[in-house]
Amino acid sequence: MGPLSHRPNCLLSLRPILRLHLLPFLSSSSSTASWGGLHWERQIGSSATPRRNSGLSVLVTGAAGFVGSHCSLALHKRGDGVVGLDNFNPYYDPSLKKARSALLSSHSIFVIDGDINDANLLSKLFDLVPFSHVLHLAAQAGVRYAIENPSSYVHSNIAGLVSLLEAVKSADPQPAVVWASSSSVYGLNDKVPFSESDQTDSPASLYAATKKAGEEITHTYNHIYGLSITGLRFFTVYGPWGRPDMAYFSFTKAILAGKPITIYHGRDRVDLARDFTYIDDIVRGCLASLDTAGKSTGSGGKKRGPAPYRIFNLGNTSPVTVPTLVSILERYLKAKAKKNVVEMPGNGDVPFTHANITLAMEELGYKPTTNLETGLKKFVKWYLAYYRNPPRQIKTHFG
Ligand SMILES: NC(=O)c1ccc[n+]([C@@H]2O[C@H](COP(=O)([O-])OP(=O)(O)OC[C@H]3O[C@@H](n4cnc5c(N)ncnc54)[C@H](O)[C@@H]3O)[C@@H](O)[C@H]2O)c1
Ligand SMILES: *[C@@H]1O[C@H](CO)[C@@H](O)[C@H](O)[C@H]1NC(C)=O
Repeated sequence: MGPLSHRPNCLLSLRPILRLHLLPFLSSSSSTASWGGLHWERQIGSSATPRRNSGLSVLVTGAAGFVGSHCSLALHKRGDGVVGLDNFNPYYDPSLKKARSALLSSHSIFVIDGDINDANLLSKLFDLVPFSHVLHLAAQAGVRYAIENPSSYVHSNIAGLVSLLEAVKSADPQPAVVWASSSSVYGLNDKVPFSESDQTDSPASLYAATKKAGEEITHTYNHIYGLSITGLRFFTVYGPWGRPDMAYFSFTKAILAGKPITIYHGRDRVDLARDFTYIDDIVRGCLASLDTAGKSTGSGGKKRGPAPYRIFNLGNTSPVTVPTLVSILERYLKAKAKKNVVEMPGNGDVPFTHANITLAMEELGYKPTTNLETGLKKFVKWYLAYYRNPPRQIKTHFG
């Protein structure tokens, strides 16, 4: 069976009013939904279809995001079918999300503008396409923003996750799920390096707490419904097309504008350090996770047997201090930073992260190959090209 299963077209069947906005003639003019219609279904079908033998068919949530856009492109390039889903929320400049999405679209990858909380949309999608995998990257990211907007974390990372898992559990076939947890679940741990078997019950931020909750919630779906689950604890991912809210990105912007940057230090003037991980290494880890994920065993909401539940650190194993990060940026940007060094406020950041990646090496063949110097060089090159001339040169900036 191809990705577009030949089921009776439910648009015309006895669906309640709720589904009315799916009618093709309404979809383009409807202000409540930007999805639906036969043309839309056809685009999804062709985007989801693998172009190689036994290729995967993957739903990528958060596809217009930093990690999601890179993974979508990498999957498509090796011949897998990819359908993206993203709500293009304004947590950071949506024009960057639109530009990533335009790039995917130029490679014939279809990205749906929708929310993972939209149960109708999800059930429609899984009716249309027998996805083999879901790569779930949609989330409210960032640690400090939780002070301003705590409910956005609950909306995307808790309610949205459950909504997605409900749809996946009911799907037939049930896809395997690979999703992004975070190194932040290690919270206030001071044993280094961080290993998967360490305690993760003292989160330092609401973001971390929602990711930890996600690990528990996915566990219950694994246990009750036989969903194959792989949770990936990413360690500070950076690179071209990155996130403007992250330090390396906002520092770059400020240094170029001659504006001061704020550098935090920990207690006793200890420098903060992060295990910065280059995007291409993360992409390889994500694809290896998809390739090695065992099958979900259930169907239509019934468990048929045990399914794998895995958790992996994806880091770089060599933490770098924030002042070192700044000096590398200064070198590539050929400009001095105006540094404003202050003690870290208690707003959820942790003083350091350091991944033990032994497990991912053994099980996924994961092996990071890009150090911070090399990775930042590529980031700066992209940044200068993109912000000098955003719309045109897009195609040349990836990879
Ligand atoms: N980048 C990192 O350093 C890092 C570290 C640890 C974990 N993570 C996790 O990795 C994943 C990807 O992160 P990223 O850096 O690419 O972030 P990102 O913000 O660039 O990407 C997330 C995307 O998800 C979309 N999204 C958010 N809520 C949604 C919803 N309810 N419905 C549909 N789409 C929604 C956003 O619009 C965004 O495009 C996230 O789950 C994040 O928490 C990232
Ligand atoms: C790293 O993780 C592996 C596998 O989980 C574990 O056996 C090993 O003890 C850990 N190493 C350290 C230094 O914590």
